[in-house]
Amino acid sequence: MKFFIDTADLGEISEAASWGCLAGVTTNPSLYARTGGGLADFEDHMVKIATVCEGLPVSAESTAMTTQEMIADGRRLAALAPNVVVKLPIGSQSLAATHALAAEGVKVNMTLIFSAPQALLAARAGARFVSPFIGRIDDIGYDGIAGLEDIVRAVHNYDYGHEVEIIAASIRSPHHVTQAALMGADIATVPFGALKNCLSHPLTEQGLARFEADWAEVKNA
Ligand code: G3P
Repeated sequence: MKFFIDTADLGEISEAASWGCLAGVTTNPSLYARTGGGLADFEDHMVKIATVCEGLPVSAESTAMTTQEMIADGRRLAALAPNVVVKLPIGSQSLAATHALAAEGVKVNMTLIFSAPQALLAARAGARFVSPFIGRIDDIGYDGIAGLEDIVRAVHNYDYGHEVEIIAASIRSPHHVTQAALMGADIATVPFGALKNCLSHPLTEQGLARFEADWAEVKNA
């Protein structure tokens, strides 16, 4: 499973990229809002992310409401950098926009996916990435991982004539990451905090402390 980072924060993206295991970035309007940036800075900010992560897919989300506006937005976003992927929320207008953009060679990441039928429709319309959410399903008392398992099995059952990768999104914890990998998700997009939590384990910290203490004794012997 590949790791994407789910943030628009350039500091977080740069640090995660320096670890050498980052395969892409996903952003959304809420994540961009958290950077404090305004509308006028949005596209420049996406270019900065795409530059830091040169060659890796960077999802920039359109907030357009109609097919024609999404197509126009998608063309503009895709022209910002060769690695920009256009993110669109699932719906009838965005399926039509995805179909048109994909025909032009623009990669689309279809987001806000909560069910297998939504994922299948996105893949059929031409989406290059399909992003089912886990945490938000857990939040309302259902099983986000079980939903992801259905989606992975359903989508990977078929050939769409183009590559389709499933991005497990709305990840909140290392447990979600483990489960997404076990369910066969192609990618997990993980917020920086959860990514750092994936690095730590109490026994690792304990083991390090013991090595340090024992090595101090060796040095003092
Ligand atoms: O990329 C979108 C998705 O990951 C959002 O996650 O935590 O807002 O449910 P969250």
